Amino acid sequence: MSLDQLLTELERQGEENDAATTDRPHKLLNITRDTGELLALLIKANKARNVLEVGTSNGYSTLWLANALPDDGKVVTVEKLPHKIEMARANFEASGLAAKIEQFVGDAADYLGALNRRFDLVFLDAERTDYMSFADAVIDAVVPGGLLVCDNALSHADEIAPFIAYVEQTGEFTTATLTVGKGEYVACKHKRAHSD
Ligand SMILES: C[S@@+](CC[C@H](N)C(=O)[O-])C[C@H]1O[C@@H](n2cnc3c(N)ncnc32)[C@H](O)[C@@H]1O
Repeated sequence: MSLDQLLTELERQGEENDAATTDRPHKLLNITRDTGELLALLIKANKARNVLEVGTSNGYSTLWLANALPDDGKVVTVEKLPHKIEMARANFEASGLAAKIEQFVGDAADYLGALNRRFDLVFLDAERTDYMSFADAVIDAVVPGGLLVCDNALSHADEIAPFIAYVEQTGEFTTATLTVGKGEYVACKHKRAHSD
């Protein structure tokens, strides 16, 4: 199966699964295809090589991120629910992109709390009410000139508003909210204070 066939199959599974359950931990809650395309564009335009994703689910978005990276690029993806970690692992194997993907099994707060490296792009797509608890670590995790992208900026604007306000008040980012998918907040970290 080609990567595009796998992505199309995962889109079908995601829609079918999420329509059939009201149990949030069992929903897949994947990004939309146009969000995947936007993430790929941002990675290529910014020549990103190291990506952090918070919120793997079954790995649909991770595949978009990994596929856009150069051969020596890597995405670390963080997920706390065991059944989703296993689904993602199987999808990464099926995609042929597993060598570019590192799965962190556990809570994002633990991963970010112990972090001593930075990433060219950080994609936040987890429990939005958790974001404020690790906001400083997320901001620190973006390399100068790098990108922070948050999903659901329009679909759940109220929930994400405190985090976005916190990022904005740092004065460290140039930002925009794009009407792609569920709304994508894109923030580019200045390379120097008060400059580009
Ligand atoms: C919206 S889904 C991610 C969808 C995925 N990015 C995609 O588009 O295919 C959010 C995921 O984040 C996970 N999650 C939420 N809060 C988390 C946390 N604090 N640490 C680790 N995983 C978390 C949930 O279990 C869920 O699988």
